[in-house]
Amino acid sequence: MGIRTAICELLGVEHPVGNAGMAGVAHARLCAAVADAGGIAAVAMGGASAAEVTTRVEAVKALTDWPFSANFIAWLIEHDPSPLDAALEAGVASVTLSFGDPAPYIDRIHSAGSLLLDQVQTVEAARRAVETGVDVIIAQGNDAGGHTGLIPLLPFLPQVVDVAGDVPVLAAGGIGDGRGLAAALVLGAQGGLMGTRFIASNEAESDWPRLPGQVLDASVDDSVWTTAIDIHQGGGRSRWPSGIGARSIRTQWLDRWSDHPDELSDLLAHDPDADHAEGHDPTPAYAGPVAGMVTEHEPAARIVESVVADAARVLDSSRRLVERR
Ligand SMILES: Cc1cc2nc3c(=O)[nH]c(=O)nc-3n(C[C@H](O)[C@H](O)[C@H](O)COP(=O)(O)O)c2cc1C
Repeated sequence: MGIRTAICELLGVEHPVGNAGMAGVAHARLCAAVADAGGIAAVAMGGASAAEVTTRVEAVKALTDWPFSANFIAWLIEHDPSPLDAALEAGVASVTLSFGDPAPYIDRIHSAGSLLLDQVQTVEAARRAVETGVDVIIAQGNDAGGHTGLIPLLPFLPQVVDVAGDVPVLAAGGIGDGRGLAAALVLGAQGGLMGTRFIASNEAESDWPRLPGQVLDASVDDSVWTTAIDIHQGGGRSRWPSGIGARSIRTQWLDRWSDHPDELSDLLAHDPDADHAEGHDPTPAYAGPVAGMVTEHEPAARIVESVVADAARVLDSSRRLVERR
């Protein structure tokens, strides 16, 4: 059993599920493995320069002929969009933007023949995405690993679907298996993207070597959403848009600071190394509560295939719940 939605045609993929853009994790090997498996694939650009972007796109193209998306953090390219131009020149099928206004980029993306996927964290941003003319909206719930907003996926997704009209919506945040994908489809999404589920996959290459192990060890209640990480990285002030924080698996540093971002901000304003005094490692472990479902290293292709097959079974068997009187 499989699942096909209209987004499969639009993105040129077999399955309406794939890997989310993850800076520091979704490099060429993961992107190509998901693309080869027929999934929706993304390679993350994070803060890469134009030259690095070209190298990354070429690295994916050397591994797969299937389409994939180049994921950018919008506010990082605000003053210098040359990394985005490099991805377009290298011929990516689509660009994914998140955490910033997509409007300044739509014309150059469409002129290059690419699609624009816009990941949003508020209904207002979804409205703006529709006005802008984006091709796909990704509704990202607060359950997501990494940077995300405040609204959980379950109430957020249907409200994004309601404003999206004809623009197809993908769901992200808290999808860990076929049941999650089935739920997202029932709520009106045309597919789902998973980040945390892929962190311990065989092809993920994490810039944080401990992260896959932290995901494997974590329970569902081990992740926290906080602005403290960004306040620390920004030297006392988060540079991320308001309402955006990061979800990480708890660490000793987060146990100390995650609930005290204002105290951290005040401290760092006076002494940039103040948080080091207690000896805790501030390295984040970006992942969401899906980590509680990740129990083994496995090939990314198996994740794509099993999630689709399980979602199809769940949707098929759920018909039995309907009583016709
Ligand atoms: C390690 C990590 C890094 C991430 N980096 C990015 C990023 O660079 N750009 C982006 O748009 N989203 C980023 N995200 C968020 C994902 O795109 C996605 O929305 C999220 O992983 C979905 O939730 P899930 O982790 O529950 O599957 C990141 C998530 C993780 C776990």
